[in-house]
Formats: sequence, structure tokens, C-alpha cells
Amino acid sequence: MAKPTLLLMSGSLRAASYNKMLLREAAAAFGEAEVIEADLDLPLYNGDVEAEGIPAKVTTLMEQVRGADALLIGAPEYNKGISGVLKNATDWLSRAKESVLKDKIAVVMSAAGGRTGGETAHFMTLSNLHQLQVNVVHGPLILVAQAQKEFDEDGRLTNDFLKRQIADRMARLRGMLG
Ligand SMILES: Cc1cc2nc3c(=O)[nH]c(=O)nc-3n(C[C@H](O)[C@H](O)[C@H](O)COP(=O)(O)O)c2cc1C
Repeated sequence: MAKPTLLLMSGSLRAASYNKMLLREAAAAFGEAEVIEADLDLPLYNGDVEAEGIPAKVTTLMEQVRGADALLIGAPEYNKGISGVLKNATDWLSRAKESVLKDKIAVVMSAAGGRTGGETAHFMTLSNLHQLQVNVVHGPLILVAQAQKEFDEDGRLTNDFLKRQIADRMARLRGMLG
């Protein structure tokens, strides 16, 4: 594959999000690729809104997912759960007339302020993706605990163990994409 397209999907919307930093770190470790940062700032899923027509931002996301060779998903943890932003995005994506998520290759990673690195939210995300038949590239969980200590002022990861873990997973992903 000449130049794969990676779609970065952060479950945190804030500009200085550690999950966004983590996804960018992973994309850089992947190597040559077209990298698109998805906008998950979507309206809340509402069946009445859907009945009137899927919102344009959701349609854009669906097309980005359809066109991506792989998804890199950043799953922050809020109150020991998946972020509403990420759950809402997967709920909308599941409503595409022709599935955009089935068999889509994805890598999940989490950065969180707490000591478990968002492990609970990470597993909740894996559970959602399992239901949606996403082809997750599994391996040791990529969890950045106490994320505020793990990135420098340029937003780069400083922890060598985590960098190696990400490099390994991205090498596997590259291998899968051919
Ligand atoms: C409402 C709320 C709930 C949170 N709950 C948790 C939690 O359960 N576990 C945890 O490790 N961090 C928790 N945090 C801290 C977040 O992990 C931290 O804000 C992190 O930076 C969010 O990801 P982001 O940097 O990508 O925005 C919470 C933060 C907020 C705002």
C-alpha cells in the first residue's frame, strides 16, 4: 500500500488533549501516511434528528471512516467510563446505511490523569468496537497514566517504555496494511 490513510479519533475535544497528543505520537511512529484528525464534536445522537436526515458533520465522519485504512482511537476516561464524545461518535457511525465500521482496522489507546491510565474506559471502548465488528489490533494495552507527567511542552511523549509499545503496535499495523 503506497500511502495509507490514518484517521485519528480523539474522545476528548479539548485543544490540549493528551489523547490527541498520544494519537499524533502514534501517527508519527507509524511513518509515512496521510493523517486526518476527525472532528468528533457532533450533535448528540437523537433518533428524531436522524429521521430528519443525518447531520452533515456525521456524514463527513462516516465518509472519513469509510476512506481510512485504519483508525487510531484515543479513549479518555471520565468517571471510570468512556467519554460521551467517543460513545456518541460510535453510536452515530453505527447508523450508516452501509456499515463503515465492520472489519475496519483500529488501534485503541488511552491517556488519563489517573493512575490506571484510563483502563476502564479503554475496555469499554473495546467492548463497543467488538459489537461494531471493528478489527482491533490487540496487544498490551496502551495506557498513559498520569498523562500530565508524560508529555513535554511540545506535546511529545517522553516515556521510553510507552514509545516502544506504540512503535511496536504501529509496526504491526503497518504490516497488516501491507
Ligand atoms: C469529568 C471528568 C472525569 C474524569 N474522570 C477520570 C477517571 O475516571 N479516571 C482518570 O484517570 N481520569 C479522569 N479524569 C481526568 C482525565 O483523565 C484528564 O482530564 C485527561 O487529561 C482527559 O483527557 P484529555 O487530556 O485527552 O482531555 C476526569 C476528568 C474529567 C473532566
